[in-house]
Amino acid sequence: MIIGVPKEIKNNEYRVAMIPSGVEEFIKNGHEVLIETGAGLGSGFGDEDYRKAGAEIVEREIVFKRAEMIYKVKEFLQEEFKYLREGMIIFTYIHSNAFRAQTDVFLKNKVVGISYEDIEDKDGKFPLLKPMSEIAGKGGFLMAMQYTQKINDGNGLLLARIHGIRTPEVAIIGAGVAGLGAAEIASNLGNKVTILDINLDKLEKAKYVLPSNVELLYSNKENLVMCLKRSDVLMNCILWPKWRKDHLVTRDMLKFMKKGTLIVDVFCDECGAIETCRATSHDHPIYFEEGVMHYCVDNIPATFSQTATTSLCHATLPYAIEIANKGYERALKENKYLRKGLCFYFGVLTLEETGKKQNRPYKTPEQVLNI
Ligand SMILES: NC(=O)c1ccc[n+]([C@@H]2O[C@H](COP(=O)([O-])OP(=O)(O)OC[C@H]3O[C@@H](n4cnc5c(N)ncnc54)[C@H](O)[C@@H]3O)[C@@H](O)[C@H]2O)c1
Repeated sequence: MIIGVPKEIKNNEYRVAMIPSGVEEFIKNGHEVLIETGAGLGSGFGDEDYRKAGAEIVEREIVFKRAEMIYKVKEFLQEEFKYLREGMIIFTYIHSNAFRAQTDVFLKNKVVGISYEDIEDKDGKFPLLKPMSEIAGKGGFLMAMQYTQKINDGNGLLLARIHGIRTPEVAIIGAGVAGLGAAEIASNLGNKVTILDINLDKLEKAKYVLPSNVELLYSNKENLVMCLKRSDVLMNCILWPKWRKDHLVTRDMLKFMKKGTLIVDVFCDECGAIETCRATSHDHPIYFEEGVMHYCVDNIPATFSQTATTSLCHATLPYAIEIANKGYERALKENKYLRKGLCFYFGVLTLEETGKKQNRPYKTPEQVLNI
C-alpha cells in the first residue's frame, strides 16, 4: 500500500503522524511511504531522516494524489477538502461530531475514515487517546502556570508552594489519564490539589500513585461547588459523552468562582462538561466568561511536539501497519477493536454518537461491512 503523511496545517500544530522508525516498519512490510517536504520539522525530524529510513519526500499534492492511506494527526481543514476522493483511507483524529463541515465532505466524497479517538481496547479504553491524554493533562497544567501569570492577563499567581503565603488550590475533575497527569505535576510543585471522580476505583488507584496530600473527592454537585469556591484553577479532564445536552459546570455555577480564576478545559468540547467552553487555538488561547478566564485549546499536545509525535506514532503504528498489510476491509473485519474507530464508509456515517449529535442517519460498522 502507498501511505501518505502530509504536513499538518492546523494552527500551531507541529506534530506529524510518522517518525522515521515508523517508515522503516512500513518499508519492512513491503509498503511505500510518501512524506510531505518538511512534514516532520516541527517535531525535530528532517526530510533526510525520513529519506534514510526509506521514504520518498514529495510535495503536498503528490502525497494526497498517490497515497491510498492518508496517515495524519488532526482533522481535515477546509484547505484539505479538495484532496478527498472515493475510497481514500483516512487514519487520523477525526472528531466527526465536532466538525460538521468535515463530516459533510467525508460523506460526499465517500472516504473510508478511521478515527484514532474511537478505537477501543479489550477493556473498553481508548488506546490512541491515552498517550495524548497524559501529555494534555500535564501540558494543561503547565498552561495554567502560564495563564495565571499577570503578563498573560491572569491574576498573578505562581502555582507553587511559597513560604509565608497561602498555597494555591487546584481542582481537577476526572482521575483518568489526563487528570492524573495534571495532578502529578500540580502536587509535585506543592499546590493543594483536589481530584474529583464519580468512579471510586479510579479514586482508589489515584491514592496509590499521587502524593498523600492530594485530596480525593467523590464528584457530586456539593463537592464540585465547594471546589469552585476555593480553587484558583479548575481543570476539566473528563470525557463528557458527546450526546449529553446537560453540563457539569453550568454558566450559573461560575458565580461561585473567584474573579480571575482560571478554567483549563482539557476536553474542550463546545458546551460540554463546562457550559461556557468553546474551543480555542494556540494563537488565541483564552477568553473570559462571567469574570472567569477560560483556556480551551484543543491541541495542547502540539506544543510538546517531539514528545507527542513520538508517543502518538508508537501507539498508532501497529493499527496503521495492520490496515496496510491486510487492506482496510479485512483489517476492519478481523479486528473488532479497530472497527470501533470506523466512522465513514463509502458515504455512510458509521459512528452512532455523531449520528445522534448531528441528527444524521447512521449504520453500524458491522452493517456496512456485512458481518
Ligand atoms: N486538548 C487536547 O489536546 C487533548 C488531548 C488528548 C486528550 N484530550 C481529552 O482529555 C480527556 C480526558 O481523557 P482521559 O484519557 O484522561 O480519559 P479517561 O477515560 O482516562 O478519564 C476520564 C475520567 O473522568 C471520570 N468521569 C466521568 N464522568 C465524570 C463526572 N461526571 N465527574 C467526575 N469524573 C467523571 C471517569 O470516571 C474517568 O476516570 C478526554 O476527553 C480527551 O478527549 C484532550
